[in-house]
Amino acid sequence: MMAFRRKKNSFSTFLLYFDLIIKWGKEQRKNFFIANILMLVVAAMTSLYPIVIDYAFNAINNKNMQDLMFIPLVIIFLTLVKGLTYFYQTVYVGKIANSIIKTIQLNLYEKIVNFDVLLMSEFKTGSLQSRFINDLNILKEAVTRLLNNLVRDFFTLIGLLASMVYLDWLLTLCVIIIYPLCIRPIIFIGKTTRKHSLKLQEKISIAGAFLSESFSSMAVIKSFNLEDLQKKKAEKKFLDIYNKNIEIIKVRSKVEPTLEIIGGLAISSVIVVAGLRINAGHIDIGAFSGFISALLIAVQPARALGTLNTILQEGGASLVRLNEILNKKNIIISPKKSKKINNFKGKMTFRNVFFTYDRKINSLKSINLSINPKEKLVIVGSNGSGKSTFLNLIPRLIDPSKGNIKIDGIDIKSLDIIDLRSMIALVSQDIILFDLTILENLKLANQNATMKEIEKACEIADSHNFIKKLKKGYNTLVGDRGLKLSGGQRQKIAIARAILKKPKILLLDEATSALDNHSEKKIISGLNNFSKDITTITIAHRTATILDAKRILFFLNGKITCSGTHNQLINQNKEYKKQFLSSYK
Ligand SMILES: Nc1ncnc2c1ncn2[C@@H]1O[C@H](COP(=O)(O)OP(=O)(O)OP(=O)(O)O)[C@@H](O)[C@H]1O
Ligand SMILES: [Mg+2]
Repeated sequence: MMAFRRKKNSFSTFLLYFDLIIKWGKEQRKNFFIANILMLVVAAMTSLYPIVIDYAFNAINNKNMQDLMFIPLVIIFLTLVKGLTYFYQTVYVGKIANSIIKTIQLNLYEKIVNFDVLLMSEFKTGSLQSRFINDLNILKEAVTRLLNNLVRDFFTLIGLLASMVYLDWLLTLCVIIIYPLCIRPIIFIGKTTRKHSLKLQEKISIAGAFLSESFSSMAVIKSFNLEDLQKKKAEKKFLDIYNKNIEIIKVRSKVEPTLEIIGGLAISSVIVVAGLRINAGHIDIGAFSGFISALLIAVQPARALGTLNTILQEGGASLVRLNEILNKKNIIISPKKSKKINNFKGKMTFRNVFFTYDRKINSLKSINLSINPKEKLVIVGSNGSGKSTFLNLIPRLIDPSKGNIKIDGIDIKSLDIIDLRSMIALVSQDIILFDLTILENLKLANQNATMKEIEKACEIADSHNFIKKLKKGYNTLVGDRGLKLSGGQRQKIAIARAILKKPKILLLDEATSALDNHSEKKIISGLNNFSKDITTITIAHRTATILDAKRILFFLNGKITCSGTHNQLINQNKEYKKQFLSSYK
């Protein structure tokens, strides 16, 4: 990709596609072979036309009736073979190009799904979507054109050139001298198109991100009367796309006239030279007609090859954007040789853990902590003090910038990430459900859960009753991100889902913040029962939880400033006291 950015020449673009086809088109080798053979047949049939014309004209000229009867049959044969091979070749090329795109799509999805949380926040959702749809479509066009033009049109031109030499070498020389005149302008046009294309795709991406944000924030837009403002923003984004498109059209449209003018020049000079040669008796009218028809037939493949560079450059710009994702390295991955916790006890230690999101400010500083097996730990702290960040470190949604975290003496980075995450259930602050039924959402935690287990988990999470009352019960669809349910209902399902996972470590990030008092009490007592034998870390906002806690960690500006029971903390720490009195009373 870097080579492509730096050199920016047509050859490196070509290499880029070559690499692309080799890398993503492995399964298509057989189709590729067949398509190319068919294309060679098409090229051969097309190249024979001028020779047939030559014979036809001479037959008419010489009133040779036998030849005149035979030639139409030859023409029918040529067109039949060409038509059939052309059809199958187009289908095969379509299969290859679409299969390459499908493979890239799947790899792209796999890559993004494995992105760690920080990497994901680098890209906006809408921008990622536009890469899937828009960039890949442009790339598909480019690959299709490349596969078609490079073999079929290139060999058609070579074949036609051979026919021309057969008909008259001097006329061919005129053509060979004149046509290369258009190479430089075409390369220049291609380069400019690529530059504009990259900008256009970025603009489309920005518009995509804007649209997806708008559609998911309709309630905010309406409640703040932002419709007009959003419309103006949309207008600006669409205008940007329009302007870039027009710039590209202006550049791209220069190719055809360039070829037209050069073609005119070629035909004119051929007519002059041919006139002289017919007069001198070197060629006959048949050869001349054949030659002119060869030139006319050559216009289409020559044009296709001429515009190919521009299309390839446009696809190249999309490929750069796709490679930007495909080449991103995911940092949070399983080690090559992972360790296993054989006899799980659940002792957790944090040694000198720091974490920074942006390499400027540490969101967590010097965290040193031991958590005993089956301990029930409660975390308290003001907004932005680092509580959620701390919890996210445990299932490795993020990794410490410094320091280490161990479970039973093993660094969590040496565990297989799937093993690690399967022993932890995290109910995060922003509950997101998938656009599936309640049952399907619950089963995400445990595909093999029986209905009995599911109902039991839902009873602990106080959700069984409300689910049963729904018209379709467990088969109710929850809507996009679960938005057809209330905030509290979503939270209850998320808690049930965590219970169903049967975790060894349960992490609750303000998991009961949206619940009414009655439900909250019920769930907390249910959870206490359920979590007797597991470690639980709860970020709490509720006085009763805090008062009952055996050990509270108090977070302040990314640090654990003190720990102990509520009574100890309130006597020891002024900040804690101040915050407790202002927030929790
Ligand atoms: N994705 C992110 N990128 C950059 N900074 C972030 C990101 N997420 C959190 N932060 C910053 O890290 C700090 C700690 O955030 P964190 O979410 O851990 O706080 P919290 O204690 O959970 O707060 P709250 O009580 O509001 O949930 C904050 O200053 C926040 O601005
Ligand atoms: Mg938080």
